[in-house]
Amino acid sequence: MWGGRFATGPDAIMEEINASIDFDQKLWRQDIRGSLAHAAMLAETGILTKEDVATIIAGLKKVEGEIESGAFTFSRALEDVHMNVESNLKDKIGLAAGRLHTARSRNDQVATDMRLWVRDTLDEIDGQMADLQLAMAEKADTYAGAVMPGFTHLQSAQPVTFGHHLLAYVEMLGRDRSRIRDARARLNECPLGAAALAGTSFPIDRHMTAKALGFDRPTANSLDSVSDRDFVLETLSAASICAMHLSRFAEEIVLWSTPQFGFVRLSDAFSTGSSIMPQKRNPDAAELVRGKAGRVFGALQGLLTMMKGLPLTYSKDMQEDKEGTFDALQTLSLCLAATAGMVRDMQPDLKVMKKAAGLGYATATDLADWLVRVLKMPFRDAHHVTGRLVGIASEKKVGLEKLSLAEMQAVEPQITDAVFAVLGVDQSVKSRVSYGGTAPANVRKQARRWLKQLSK
Ligand code: ARG
Repeated sequence: MWGGRFATGPDAIMEEINASIDFDQKLWRQDIRGSLAHAAMLAETGILTKEDVATIIAGLKKVEGEIESGAFTFSRALEDVHMNVESNLKDKIGLAAGRLHTARSRNDQVATDMRLWVRDTLDEIDGQMADLQLAMAEKADTYAGAVMPGFTHLQSAQPVTFGHHLLAYVEMLGRDRSRIRDARARLNECPLGAAALAGTSFPIDRHMTAKALGFDRPTANSLDSVSDRDFVLETLSAASICAMHLSRFAEEIVLWSTPQFGFVRLSDAFSTGSSIMPQKRNPDAAELVRGKAGRVFGALQGLLTMMKGLPLTYSKDMQEDKEGTFDALQTLSLCLAATAGMVRDMQPDLKVMKKAAGLGYATATDLADWLVRVLKMPFRDAHHVTGRLVGIASEKKVGLEKLSLAEMQAVEPQITDAVFAVLGVDQSVKSRVSYGGTAPANVRKQARRWLKQLSK
């Protein structure tokens, strides 16, 4: 491609470190899409003749068909996807192929391809996030009133419902999706036509190519156009936050499916056995979702580090934006699918969850609230009285509801036996009617709201 200035070919090691075709061949569809738009614009503006462009476009379609069919072998000697496509085009149509690169450089070409690829992938991932939200909201609707322990510090805190817990993740995914939408909106400018870095002397129409490729507008500064990878960074940042959410949920599945918790059971479809311990059912998919988050974070860190020292504009370092990004987004996609699969598969053990919800004096706050509401005690005093009662019950190794009225009155004489009504876990969750609270009626309403929104 640059034989004019070079007498000999590259050293084998040079070729190995330089070539990106092993991974950037993933961009072939986007590369051809970009070339088709560029060629059409070159004809429209009279930069190339209509005949040449017709030949080029027909040739590009042939190349597309050949790659699609798997008949094309990418060559390392041709370095990257752009040169592989162009050289194949030359084999098909001869000299006219050499005119396609008029008013364009691989620098604006790769920036365009990468934006197109990331945009396509963001759309796919958004669909998968919506599907996971749907799986969770459906389960939340079914289990809106299923009582389970709510934790802080992984210590029993207050009873909540399983549906409420699932909807917490639906909210997280809602924010993940809004980050994706946001990144997509900023990404949607077209760098094609920035050429190598300075723009071009040919009378190109960048608005035309931008429109043809579905971008909102061309990028405004040619130097920025070829040296910007913010759109990848924003995508990896949104992907990292989502991977972190999935990892937290995965961690809960790991805990919940232990015999010690026993809150949920994954079927054989989402469990693995042990080659030595016949009793084992391991939640490998959840562990892998938790573990793979590291790869997504790593890609973000890698790209930030790669970019931070680069002077304007393009440097070959930037070729390193691809492998981590491809891997991270493919990983996220797999994790989203596996998580949706586990959500649909998992069966909660309602009895176990409910029993666990009452452990650890989880309704102590309900008792304190009763003292405030009925006896008009200041909350701080109520907290103190309740603390003493918990102390007595804990000494006796029984729940609060197992204390006698006399034992309670020994601490606070005004307590009546009406207090026992607030000590049950069902009553506790039912009473949490504040907006966003865990009362089953609230949870059902929120689940339905999500289901309605997701069906749009
Ligand atoms: N394969 C290159 C990349 O991914 C394409 C751009 C090459 N540009 C250049 N000036 N060598 O970054």
